Amino acid sequence: MKLFSANIEDLRTLYITNLKKALDMEQKITDALPNMIEKATDPQLATAFRDHLRQSEGHVANVESLLRKTTGDAGTVTCKAISGLVTEAEDSIKDASDPSIRDITLIACGQQVEHHEIAVYGTLRTWATILGLTDDARILESILNEEKAADKLLSSISDGVNMQAAA
Ligand SMILES: [Fe+2]
Ligand SMILES: [Fe+2]
Repeated sequence: MKLFSANIEDLRTLYITNLKKALDMEQKITDALPNMIEKATDPQLATAFRDHLRQSEGHVANVESLLRKTTGDAGTVTCKAISGLVTEAEDSIKDASDPSIRDITLIACGQQVEHHEIAVYGTLRTWATILGLTDDARILESILNEEKAADKLLSSISDGVNMQAAA
């Protein structure tokens, strides 16, 4: 992709807006995870959510510091996608009374969130690279890797839980 200087300014604005959306997204995820931990029956699943809550708190801090460095403040822009995913997750969990079904519902909802985060951080990392913000790109890449690992872990836990739900 070839960008001219006017495009670079536009991309910089787009980058900052989407960093602010990522901050709102992470704050909403850290608010939603305690309920998911509480609703999980499988101990491995509860631990995975608990560990990812700690990582997500780190993501909030990381994105906040990227924003402070670039703009001087850490304001947010509403991430409508995560609001939708969290609402949908709450509805689905309410509908699932059987513990195994609830666990696979929690995993499905968790993976939808992780996939959204993977798309968000993949894009932000690429934009930071184009803008020559190598430190930002490195931090975003490390967040991206944690989201990918969380998604993978949920996939492997789901193998065991799915078997129980089918039994
Ligand atoms: Fe995250
Ligand atoms: Fe995540």
